[in-house]
Amino acid sequence: MRVFVGIDLPGRTRARLAVLERGIPAARWVAPGNYHLTLAFIGEADAGLCRDIAAALGTLRDPPFAIELRGVGHFGPLRQARSLWAGVAPSEALERLQAAVRQRLRDAGCALPRKRFRPHVTLARLRGETGHHLANFLAEHSLLHIPDVPVTAVTLYESRLSAGGARYEALHSVPLPQ
Ligand code: 2AM
Repeated sequence: MRVFVGIDLPGRTRARLAVLERGIPAARWVAPGNYHLTLAFIGEADAGLCRDIAAALGTLRDPPFAIELRGVGHFGPLRQARSLWAGVAPSEALERLQAAVRQRLRDAGCALPRKRFRPHVTLARLRGETGHHLANFLAEHSLLHIPDVPVTAVTLYESRLSAGGARYEALHSVPLPQ
């Protein structure tokens, strides 16, 4: 299965993001139940590796903290953007947690790509010409601010790809120690 480690978002945060999902006809909007913040993408893993990953995440010692979602952005050039997302305000606690998760995953035997961490919550996949709609969306939501989003656990997710897009299923959640 295809797995990754991320952070689940509370219902009230999902509700605030869900109302953004309009105004770009070519967008394939992410279902609010699928919103998440990826900490590390692992890729293919069998049941044994998933067990090792769950055990390794259980040794995290980072305490719970809060993040702020701020503004919106896109990956890929404006005219051929691949995805649209809500941004995350810089957070040392989040950087520390992401580094700790990566270290645990390496300890468990995962080979992780060396990529800069750009925390975001994907709102839509885009394909083809999004025209002025994307520019309007970016301008309209540049001041998005959702404070006090609690991070109390990390979750190992399975990503199931299907014709209707990816669906993410929580396999194992590890609460951060109080
Ligand atoms: P994205 O939302 O920006 O596409 C599951 O695919 C999650 O892992 C998504 O949040 C995705 O980010 C992220 N991810 C990171 N690297 C990935 C990769 N190489 N392939 C697929 N998804 C990746």
